[in-house]
Amino acid sequence: MLLTTQAKRPRRIVVLVSGAGSNLQALLDADLGGRVVLAASDRAGAGGLARAAAAGVDTAVVTPGDCPDRAAWDARLADVVGAAQPDLVVLAGFMRILGAQFPQRFPTLNVHPSLLPAFPGAHAVPEALAWGVKVTGCTVHFVDEQVDQGPIVAQEAVPVKPDDTPATLHARIQAVEHRLLPACVALACHDRLAIHGRHVKVLPGD
Ligand code: GAR
Repeated sequence: MLLTTQAKRPRRIVVLVSGAGSNLQALLDADLGGRVVLAASDRAGAGGLARAAAAGVDTAVVTPGDCPDRAAWDARLADVVGAAQPDLVVLAGFMRILGAQFPQRFPTLNVHPSLLPAFPGAHAVPEALAWGVKVTGCTVHFVDEQVDQGPIVAQEAVPVKPDDTPATLHARIQAVEHRLLPACVALACHDRLAIHGRHVKVLPGD
């Protein structure tokens, strides 16, 4: 799959957040060749929503508690995202598993705080620390129907220090995420990512 549209217009980006939104902030602050048109969350109190509002970006909340069942939440979230007509969706600390149809409908990138396929899931940083790895890092990948398994766009290593806590290690990983995620989103916005099976090729720029 080649992320391509004919017209060279700024790409429309929807960002999904569950937490503080520091990665969303990095996207808001970056020159992407696109603009964030909506930040949506599964949590009404997510800090990322306040960051989006402060930047003049529309926000939406779709909580599972407001929906009768899992399928209804999937459908409502997809409707809200679809109404924003995104060219790209970015999961920036979105801590819920999306329905399998979601990435089929929207090209979707995720940022994950480990060197996938090591330590998938919601507790990557404490699990890496507990395992005793000397190096971990972060991964930006396309989302497919499997959790944290889609084709990898970019990874960067972060050393683990002997006195690290989950908080200190996560902060060091996030500092890298804040550079890597906007760089990958910018590549997508400039139609420079081509997916061939599990492999993502970065196409040359103009
Ligand atoms: C980020 O470190 C991101 O990699 C992680 O949540 C954090 C969100 O921080 N995502 C996952 O663990 C997904 N499995 P932020 O809200 O400050 O951007």
